[in-house]
Amino acid sequence: MRVVLFTGKGGVGKTTLAAATATMLARSGRKVLAVSTDPAHSLGDALEADLGGEPVELEAGLCAAHIDTRALLDDSWGRLQVHLRTMLSGAGVDELVADELTVLPGVEELLALAEVRRAAETGLWEVVVVDCGPTAETLRLLALPEALSGYLERLFPAHRRAVRGLLAGLTGAGRDAQPAWDRTIDALDGLAEQLTGLRSMLADHTRTSIRLVLTPERVVVAETRRTLTALALHGLHVDALVANRVLPGPPPSLRGPAARWLRERHAEQQAVLAELATAPVPLRTAAHTAAEPTGVAALLAVAQSLYGSTDPAPPAGPLAAPLLQVRRTAGSGTSPDSEFELVLRLPGVAAGSLDLARVDDELAVTAGGTRRMVALPSVLRRCTVTGARLSGDDLCVVFTPDPSVWLR
Ligand SMILES: Nc1ncnc2c1ncn2[C@@H]1O[C@H](COP(=O)(O)OP(=O)(O)OP(=O)(O)O)[C@@H](O)[C@H]1O
Ligand SMILES: [Mg+2]
Repeated sequence: MRVVLFTGKGGVGKTTLAAATATMLARSGRKVLAVSTDPAHSLGDALEADLGGEPVELEAGLCAAHIDTRALLDDSWGRLQVHLRTMLSGAGVDELVADELTVLPGVEELLALAEVRRAAETGLWEVVVVDCGPTAETLRLLALPEALSGYLERLFPAHRRAVRGLLAGLTGAGRDAQPAWDRTIDALDGLAEQLTGLRSMLADHTRTSIRLVLTPERVVVAETRRTLTALALHGLHVDALVANRVLPGPPPSLRGPAARWLRERHAEQQAVLAELATAPVPLRTAAHTAAEPTGVAALLAVAQSLYGSTDPAPPAGPLAAPLLQVRRTAGSGTSPDSEFELVLRLPGVAAGSLDLARVDDELAVTAGGTRRMVALPSVLRRCTVTGARLSGDDLCVVFTPDPSVWLR
């Protein structure tokens, strides 16, 4: 079973490419679910079908659904909110304040992804293609399961009985309050469990991969590198960058202002594509079609331009080490004697020559004649490179705080 997530900025073509990918997979004989977690649902428009919360079969092997995030919120999270509110007002917190305190940003998207996981684990589909929301949102929510389970773990550690006693004691309600606490903690436990499951699905490279969609414009290059770094740091696997709406070059015989416009736009896009090709992730392109690609036939044409004769959802390889990791090797907190190591996985790097250069907030790594540009994680932007070494396929770059910017 494979899960392929499409994300990227607003309007770049996430929905279209997710629908195109699902359609092509179904035509190749696989059982596919195309599902949207974006509250602004438009998957149905792309597929020219009426979609709801329950998957409907649009053609042989192709099912699609819009996850109804509102209903999810009212259901599982709603129940938990009621418990939390009771708990807080029992502790003397004003009802309105309690209301505010129990609003958890991002939980809507999170529940939607948990729903995707549930669908994926029914085993009804070989591939689940997900149309996610825009990058910033998606990024934040992809990190959320981990952040939230860490938070819950701290709040309700394993020795929960002591905590229960303590919480009940705080309200002054003593033993009578016990069942309410129990229910709240059980509900939180349930949420934490869901999150852990979701997290393990998202970080499992043998099942899940992310396609980052963009349009080839100069402004997106640096941002794309930052997004790649952030996703890699969360242990998420991006298996392709997808440049959408790529223009064809006009034939040389074509003259006139329109030809000149096209020639210039084309050259500009090609320059951006050449830069994007230096990212440490494969780059694919989808052609700009003349008409909006909606409906199966048009979507298949887009998929054809994107994948050609390659498999849109190839079986993922064995679990690989993360593309990029940061670890502290000395010091603690913000101490100036801190030292960090950035570990980049570069398969086959040991065989060839290697060159390393810092370019502002990016690192240019040239190995075996190929240059890769990697955006530095924020903590390392305030450091200088003080060394580098190879360890198997890993390039370890050593960073120490730059005193002029470290504590600012
Ligand atoms: N390759 C393409 N050629 C021509 N038009 C395209 C192409 N890809 C997408 N479009 C059109 O661009 C518009 C935006 O695409 P789409 O809805 O897929 O983007 P999105 O990233 O899902 O947007 P949102 O962030 O709003 O969800 C749609 O009208 C779609 O038909
Ligand atoms: Mg969309």
